[in-house]
Amino acid sequence: MNETILIVRNLRKYFPVKGIFFTKGYIKAVDGVTFTVLRGSTLALVGESGSGKSTVGRLILRLIEPDDGEILFNGMNVRKLKNTDLLEFRRRTAIVFQDPYSSLNPRMTVYNILKEPLEAHNIDVGDVEEYIVSLLERVGLGKEHLYRFPHEFSGGQRQRISIARVLALKPELIVLDEPTSSLDVSVQAQILNLLKDLQESDKLTYLFITHDLGVVRYIASMVAVMYLGKIVEIADTDSIFSDSRHPYTRMLLSSIPVPDPKVARAREKAKLTGEPPSPLNPPPGCRFHPRCPYAMDICRKEEPPVVEIEKRHIVCCHLYVRR
Ligand SMILES: Nc1ncnc2c1ncn2[C@@H]1O[C@H](COP(=O)(O)OP(=O)(O)OP(=O)(O)O)[C@@H](O)[C@H]1O
Ligand SMILES: [Mg+2]
Repeated sequence: MNETILIVRNLRKYFPVKGIFFTKGYIKAVDGVTFTVLRGSTLALVGESGSGKSTVGRLILRLIEPDDGEILFNGMNVRKLKNTDLLEFRRRTAIVFQDPYSSLNPRMTVYNILKEPLEAHNIDVGDVEEYIVSLLERVGLGKEHLYRFPHEFSGGQRQRISIARVLALKPELIVLDEPTSSLDVSVQAQILNLLKDLQESDKLTYLFITHDLGVVRYIASMVAVMYLGKIVEIADTDSIFSDSRHPYTRMLLSSIPVPDPKVARAREKAKLTGEPPSPLNPPPGCRFHPRCPYAMDICRKEEPPVVEIEKRHIVCCHLYVRR
């Protein structure tokens, strides 16, 4: 137990913004991100649109190359993997996207969609059809769906097919990038339950990217909150909901409705206001200071340090520095 599967240190990715003649600047999409994930757990990555969540997911799976930083998967240095080692890494990791409509090839039958990864990785599963039916059954579909095409399924069913395709290679780490955002609420709950069951039976590790804090509460063991390319707070899920420290985390939480009017009023004060500034020219000092109700002088000048509030509860904020 408590075995580390993934360590990410100081991950950085800037995207150049090209002008007509020269590079105008860089979008600092991911700017020094550090975290650790335990095997069999779910780390939720939350934050507003453009905060860099998907970029982190893609970097970890080496779908894009980082500019800097370290990624260790089961102790292996992911950035250095080549040839068969890289192929093996690709087998042991996977990604599920938000939109099951565009992530499945419309011209392929379910059978072929699920057979493709087995062929790409040259995996002998014995009777292929039997194996594929067993995958379908694991996600709540069946033999009768084998020779149908993606357009013959509902959104939720298509997401089940995407999940079956990912399971085909028995991965260990799965990045789920808003996997339920495009689905109806009732279907969302079914897919989340399925993901939870699969996690338990296969000891899967999830990096779960989402805007939806309700989903986070249901599925995550730990939560990392991102703001403009940086993680501002990480803690276990209970601490994030009951004892969050970063003003931004509190603002995010204040945007979920609460039944208790007292709590609602207290939260009203910390409402999320203003638009996030652009990652092209992030503000100096703490990136959150222009929106922060507690901003001090130092916040406008110096980047906040990493403060360990408790074991496994980290916050990057000047408010918590003992002076
Ligand atoms: N390939 C790319 N080229 C240029 N800029 C990019 C690229 N990919 C992402 N970006 C920029 O990097 C920043 C972070 O993007 P990212 O997609 O990681 O955010 P996100 O947190 O996943 O947002 P959302 O919640 O909207 O999915 C954004 O400003 C985005 O425009
Ligand atoms: Mg995204």
